[in-house]
Amino acid sequence: MRAVVAAPITLSRTTPLLAGPRALARRAVAGPLGLPSPLHGRVVVVTGASSGIGEATAKAVAAVGGRVVLVARRAEELERVAGEIEAAGGEVTWHACDLTDAEAIDALVATLLAEHGTVDYLVNNAGRSIRRSLALSTDRMHDFERTMAINYLGPVRLTLGLLPAMREQRFGHVVNIVSWGVQIKAPKFSAYLASKTALDTFSRIAGRETFGENVTFTNVRVSLVQTPMTAPTEAYAGRGATPESAARRILRALEDRPITQDTLAGRVGEIANLAAPRLMDALFAGFDALFPDSAAAKATVAPATADPVSDPAGEAAPQESATAWASLNSAPAGSSSTANRP
Ligand SMILES: NC(=O)c1ccc[n+]([C@@H]2O[C@H](COP(=O)([O-])OP(=O)(O)OC[C@H]3O[C@@H](n4cnc5c(N)ncnc54)[C@H](OP(=O)(O)O)[C@@H]3O)[C@@H](O)[C@H]2O)c1
Repeated sequence: MRAVVAAPITLSRTTPLLAGPRALARRAVAGPLGLPSPLHGRVVVVTGASSGIGEATAKAVAAVGGRVVLVARRAEELERVAGEIEAAGGEVTWHACDLTDAEAIDALVATLLAEHGTVDYLVNNAGRSIRRSLALSTDRMHDFERTMAINYLGPVRLTLGLLPAMREQRFGHVVNIVSWGVQIKAPKFSAYLASKTALDTFSRIAGRETFGENVTFTNVRVSLVQTPMTAPTEAYAGRGATPESAARRILRALEDRPITQDTLAGRVGEIANLAAPRLMDALFAGFDALFPDSAAAKATVAPATADPVSDPAGEAAPQESATAWASLNSAPAGSSSTANRP
């Protein structure tokens, strides 16, 4: 049996102006009337659902009656998450897929369309972060290539594959999990934030082209969240939101379909970067000097041609968790193909 819970009606501190009058009106009546979430009965694909923010989001979507589809590489973790969702009464399927593999993404799209006809909601959450200064990056072009592969090219390919059916049915919503860093532009995150900014910009433009067909995009500019991605970074210990609270914001973005969902700090940073760019450069140069590269980032200088998957040493920078590396290397051998759980 599937749990059906009415959407919470509390207004987000950061999004009401961007949510649109339809979403605000729905919230005003949904709670008092006990109406189900707009996600109820809808097919919601969540990538990167094997841990962290994606796992929590998948569980939140299932709890309001969404038919959730989990995607990531680690089949055993997807099976665990799916089992927990089922045990809570949710409806779930999963597919193991490496979202840096173009053929695997195309196969995933074909499978999803065959199974569901149309995907109603897509959450592009799978991603990786790298924090490393340019001074340590001159021989590390692969840092830039691999962040683009998973944070930009993979989500774009998946979105392009699912978009025609959304446009055809004149309904669809894509939520991208990006970062407040696209607004703040923090030093040492050039590879990571450039890839997230690319996805952010792609979606703003795509949303303009599909607006008339009721297919919409939200960029969720997430701040620090305690997940396996951030766990190895000592400076982040005890700081940041929980995956569950991030998931509540993402659920809100799915239901209300705002253009962006920002933090106050992200918005202030964005405005300051526009209004006083030189002053911000000077400020951030100071921060950059205050917070040097980690020992792990300094210790790992991989050859430019290194394969990021077979070169775990090259990943051991803050936010590039040893855990993530270990999991990368233990990804199922068939991770370039999709595997479906009935
Ligand atoms: N945590 C933060 O502070 C923070 C802040 C801003 C933005 N974000 C963004 O939030 C998203 C989720 O991150 P998280 O913090 O929850 O970290 P996480 O727990 O490490 O989750 C990353 C997810 O991405 C999946 N993934 C990575 N590479 C993949 C690939 N090639 N193919 C398919 N799936 C892949 C991983 O699954 P498998 O290993 O099983 O493939 C995992 O489920 C990321 O896009 C991240 O950039 C996080």
